[in-house]
Amino acid sequence: MFDSKEFIEKSIKEIRKTVGENKVISACSGGVDSTVATVLVHKALGKNAVAVFIDDGLRREGEPEFVVKTLTNIGIRNRFVDAKKEFFEVFKGKVDAEEKRKAFRDKFYKKFGEVSKEEKIGFITQGTIKADIMETVGGIKSQHNVLEQIGINPESYGYKILEPLKELFKPEVRKVARELGLPKEISERMPFPGPALSLRVLGEVTAEKIAIVRKATQIVEEETKELGVFQAFAVLHNDKATGIKKGKRVYGNIVTIRIVDSQDAVTARASQVNYEILKCICSRITTEIATVVRCLYDITDKPPATIEFE
Ligand code: XMP
Repeated sequence: MFDSKEFIEKSIKEIRKTVGENKVISACSGGVDSTVATVLVHKALGKNAVAVFIDDGLRREGEPEFVVKTLTNIGIRNRFVDAKKEFFEVFKGKVDAEEKRKAFRDKFYKKFGEVSKEEKIGFITQGTIKADIMETVGGIKSQHNVLEQIGINPESYGYKILEPLKELFKPEVRKVARELGLPKEISERMPFPGPALSLRVLGEVTAEKIAIVRKATQIVEEETKELGVFQAFAVLHNDKATGIKKGKRVYGNIVTIRIVDSQDAVTARASQVNYEILKCICSRITTEIATVVRCLYDITDKPPATIEFE
């Protein structure tokens, strides 16, 4: 049986031993994994740790404000870095899922390289968990936060990496979050991928497409918040379809709604969501987002699909 209290004590000791007198940045996206990693590092190192949130322009509605507020409320020193323009720049002309993922990963670590120079730190902490490593090493996809395991030396970006959660799966991370006394909105938070909405725009990622998927995601989340599902989100297709808006034929966007039940993200089932809820989501998406003419519901389990489309 996993003992979260024991894990926290052991982890704090290990962080202190590894880091010594160095300063550490904790890359915090606001998800349960990176927030737990951030709190552990903060507990271990106090003012030698600073949490950094990079706004890559790919986050959900209200997310940047939520992360800064949460960290501040917990009493963790934090820094907000606006890098929206730079991130959209690296996606230009990229349509392949793995190419986009790699572009995101490279920009992400380079940006942290810049911040680490400014903060004069030696380590970056991130919330990588065991499932991320398993899937990357297993060749399913290159999770953005897995480097050393696929032969990339993080020191090429100018720092060492600390991954206090790399032996844990999601349910254990949640136990640690509860033991640390984190608010429910963190400990029970729906998983959200590091490359964020970029995985949910098929084809080239642009600010305009992200705005569409951000709004659709907000609607899906609002309409499913009572369901207790593992993940619920929207995906914007790279194709168009015919529809009717204001009595006229339009060639508009297609959005897929993905709602899955899972324990640890390694396998998942497409959730049997009440039809009325799906109809309501569809109706809101097609009326509140002017360019969307069609909503689909994905009924594929993992495997053979993955949870994300990219
Ligand atoms: P897949 O799509 O592989 O997703 O079935 C499994 C879980 O991982 C999340 N995911 C990611 N998380 N970086 C992350 O931090 C990534 O590159 C990434 N890709 C997928 C996904 O949301 C699900 O919870």
